[in-house]
Amino acid sequence: MAFALITGASGGIGLCLAHEFAKRKIDVLFVARSEKNLAAAKKDIIEKHKVKVEFLSLDLSVPGSAKLVHDWIMKNGFDVTILVNNAGYGIWGNVEKTPIAQLSNMMQLNMITLTELCHMMIPELRKHPESYILNVASTAAYQAVPTLATYAASKSFVVLFTRGLRKELMGTNISVTCLSPGATSTNFIDRAGMQILKDRAEKFSMTADQVAKTAVNGMFHHKSEVIPGFTNWISVQLTYLLPKALIETIAAGLYKTNP
Ligand SMILES: NC(=O)c1ccc[n+]([C@@H]2O[C@H](COP(=O)([O-])OP(=O)(O)OC[C@H]3O[C@@H](n4cnc5c(N)ncnc54)[C@H](OP(=O)(O)O)[C@@H]3O)[C@@H](O)[C@H]2O)c1
Repeated sequence: MAFALITGASGGIGLCLAHEFAKRKIDVLFVARSEKNLAAAKKDIIEKHKVKVEFLSLDLSVPGSAKLVHDWIMKNGFDVTILVNNAGYGIWGNVEKTPIAQLSNMMQLNMITLTELCHMMIPELRKHPESYILNVASTAAYQAVPTLATYAASKSFVVLFTRGLRKELMGTNISVTCLSPGATSTNFIDRAGMQILKDRAEKFSMTADQVAKTAVNGMFHHKSEVIPGFTNWISVQLTYLLPKALIETIAAGLYKTNP
């Protein structure tokens, strides 16, 4: 059985990605922290799509957690053909006012665990005729974003790392894609502490279903970058066309300085 391994599939975009794979009769492996949500998601996906689902409840922001995921896969003999690095979160607020432990935790999850999982899973992905890596970045990755400075920079890392990895693996059996969603209705805003901006964000938000559908189609079409939604796509193109200082002033206005 070939599995899609998805980090952060207990809710939001990750869970919708799991449904997209399951619809295509691909078995799924989940990793996230909340065991209750993972168990409920497993039951729902099995009932709806009749595929195999297994999960590991684990905090991926803990150093060494990628190795635990790899050990779990090896021990159970799961054949992974798709790796989706989706688990991630943001923290809203000025760097100076945010405890460094919180920023470090976010950077560990958004960048280090993602990189380690790619590194550890490439030998496994190599064993199959056709394999995929889908790394989840953000439209925030394409410019600096005051009040989301560390989050935006961590997602820039994901974009550049994924582009580099794609080139390195070009011509092999592994296709590498970066997904950069814009505002999407999930738990993201609440976890980032951005509730004050929720009404504004909801006006522009896509559903996680729409994002997941576009992402999986793009991944199977071997796209390098998938930016779901026309407005999001345009906003990223503008970051290449307009002066960075102007783009970053606009970004600062959108996210408004934390009081
Ligand atoms: N929503 C947006 O507007 C938006 C925009 C651009 C990019 N993104 C990116 O999309 C990805 C998915 O986010 P989302 O919007 O779906 O947010 P979400 O609803 O908060 O889902 C995040 C997922 O990641 C898991 N996760 C968080 N911290 C974890 C940890 N320490 N260890 C293991 N799993 C962890 C969560 O599960 P547990 O809580 O159970 O651990 C959950 O399944 C993230 O990388 C995010 O940066 C989101």
